[in-house]
Amino acid sequence: MDKPLDIRTALSPEHVRSTGEGPLYMRLRRVLDEMIANGRLDQGHALPTERDIAEMTGLSRVTVRKAVDDLVKSGQLMRRRGSGTFVASQIGRVEQSLSKLTSFTEDMARRGLVTRSVWLNRGVYSPSPDETMALGLTIDDRVARFERLRIAADTPLAIERAAIASEYMPDPETVTSSLYEALGRRQARPYRATQRISARKVDDEDARLLDIAVGDAVLQIERVSYLASGRAIEFTRSIYRGDAYDFVAELRIQES
Ligand code: GLP
Repeated sequence: MDKPLDIRTALSPEHVRSTGEGPLYMRLRRVLDEMIANGRLDQGHALPTERDIAEMTGLSRVTVRKAVDDLVKSGQLMRRRGSGTFVASQIGRVEQSLSKLTSFTEDMARRGLVTRSVWLNRGVYSPSPDETMALGLTIDDRVARFERLRIAADTPLAIERAAIASEYMPDPETVTSSLYEALGRRQARPYRATQRISARKVDDEDARLLDIAVGDAVLQIERVSYLASGRAIEFTRSIYRGDAYDFVAELRIQES
């Protein structure tokens, strides 16, 4: 395989103009695309500024912006307010069905991605008012809490803060990887769930964990899961990176 061109050569007017056909912004898009694919622009690295790219390629700022915008839309680049444009993680955007009750580990395994978690907290606590309500507990009950940074292909994707009624998970330390798998072993795997998704701006602490800028868009998801008996078992608040997830729902015409 040929050695990838250095950035200046790849972005020279001659190279850009001779790369493929079509409008100039498409040619530049293709060059940048190649630079990402061959690792010349690496994951997490900053793209030269639009002004620098315009200078190197001899193209107008408008043309450069159009090419960059296209790559941001397709998920290959991401903009971080105040700090520039970066090469996005190669896992791209994750498409997540809204109608299947699956676990993070299963979702990522289906995509061939290996997951790991960084534990932020794990233990047994008195339930908060929200947990008491969601899980139908009394103040004498306890919850097992599992707070994790969820990582796939070395990219932090979500922060999940789960609470399980402690009678179903009395010893949180026994959960080492998948929570749903551990619940399954105790015949307490969720059977159905309701989920509420809302848009938010990420705060300082979560931004640091997710490696995004404070104020970036995230999706907050609250899931309450139930056993087949109807008993609520899980209340989880998750923060998913807005630049990494597309939630997809299938809609059908209502039959009367
Ligand atoms: C999803 C859900 C969470 C659930 C988790 C379990 O991400 N949003 O509500 O707790 O899966 O995942 P795992 O079994 O991988 O720990």
